[in-house]
Amino acid sequence: MTNVAAAPTPDTPWRLARRTARMNPSVIREILKLTELPGVLSMAGGLPSPDTFPVEAMRAATDKVLRETPREALQYAASEGYAPLREWVAVQMTAQGLSVDASQVLITTGSQQGLDLVAKVLLDAGSMVAVESPTYLGALQAFAPYEPEVLSVACDDEGPLPDALAAARGARFLYLLPNFQNPSGRCIGEARRAALAEAARALGLPIVEDNPYGDLWFDAPPPRPLASRWPEGTIYLGSFSKVLAPGLRLGYVIAPKAMFPKLLQAKQAADLHTPGFNQRVVHEVVRDGFLDRHVPTIRARYKAHRDAMRSALEAHMPRGCRWSVPVGGMFFWIELPAGVDATALLPRAVELGVAYVPGAAFFADEPRANTLRLSFVTVAPAQIERGVALLAQALKQAQPATTDAAATLTA
Ligand SMILES: Cc1ncc(COP(=O)(O)O)c(C=O)c1O
Repeated sequence: MTNVAAAPTPDTPWRLARRTARMNPSVIREILKLTELPGVLSMAGGLPSPDTFPVEAMRAATDKVLRETPREALQYAASEGYAPLREWVAVQMTAQGLSVDASQVLITTGSQQGLDLVAKVLLDAGSMVAVESPTYLGALQAFAPYEPEVLSVACDDEGPLPDALAAARGARFLYLLPNFQNPSGRCIGEARRAALAEAARALGLPIVEDNPYGDLWFDAPPPRPLASRWPEGTIYLGSFSKVLAPGLRLGYVIAPKAMFPKLLQAKQAADLHTPGFNQRVVHEVVRDGFLDRHVPTIRARYKAHRDAMRSALEAHMPRGCRWSVPVGGMFFWIELPAGVDATALLPRAVELGVAYVPGAAFFADEPRANTLRLSFVTVAPAQIERGVALLAQALKQAQPATTDAAATLTA
């Protein structure tokens, strides 16, 4: 990738900053345009199901905030966030095994902003950041403008290998998604978490733990966060996007006390504060335990969708494809037979009427072209069956020889 800033031309007086060379259009946003084509069943987006948005609760809370505290809600507010919401987050996290004081909670404009702030305060041009393989594309995009060297840590089906962290010695941080990872769906188990936290601590390798999907478990909650195992060495990111609604743009950073002031200064410079109105409305919604009633309905819905996709994959996918069944979250990650390129296959799949996200964009190192991500939450179960059948049809047309050959199929 070149770092040369575009030179001014006779047509434009603008000269781009060097960092823009690292800023590229999101592959996913480009692909999402395909979902707007009539008749295409999209399993591409990472969007939560709009049927889970608590519209009535939001309406009632909005009314209440506008009736009771309209001036405060519509005024500029504290950069740290709305104090009662910070307190609520601290109590929730403490209940999940991460002992947090409200003074460590920074309310952000989505957890995506948390990724940007963390990168802004921790990365210099050329400094190393370690990520999983594959990892969240939006994090790679957030880090890129700070011009780091990105190192992919070796992973297996359960996440990063603790022994592989040694290669990341000296990195500014290791970015981890322990719960129902986007894109792979994997969840890091108890023993692996303990080993990773221990290895990172021994290396002095700080962790940025991103957890937007942790509440979306199907049968049992995931093990406690990495941050609870090494609190002073971990920055934790949370989000209201998947348990309430992403349009609120509400997330939070939980930072060790030593890190908080710089993150706050970066936040101030970025947008002064997260919309105070949204924070008050959300606090009004969640303060009485609403999520304890609401989130189980999301889990049940997503689990039924997961089951529909599992059955459809087992019924339709050609031999030689491999996947594991996610125990939470929103995604199946599919490995196609070696030699099948999911990006090259996409136009044909769209022609047939189904869209997915090719996996290549989720790799910071050598992209594995034979991978793709399917979201199971926004398409109705009956349509999931059709979508997967169409994907299987595209695959069989693309690679009749390879896909007929016997190979492993894990479900
Ligand atoms: C792993 C991961 N981190 C962060 C985000 C950003 O979420 P938010 O809506 O809180 O900004 C997403 C969004 O899908 C995500 O998948």
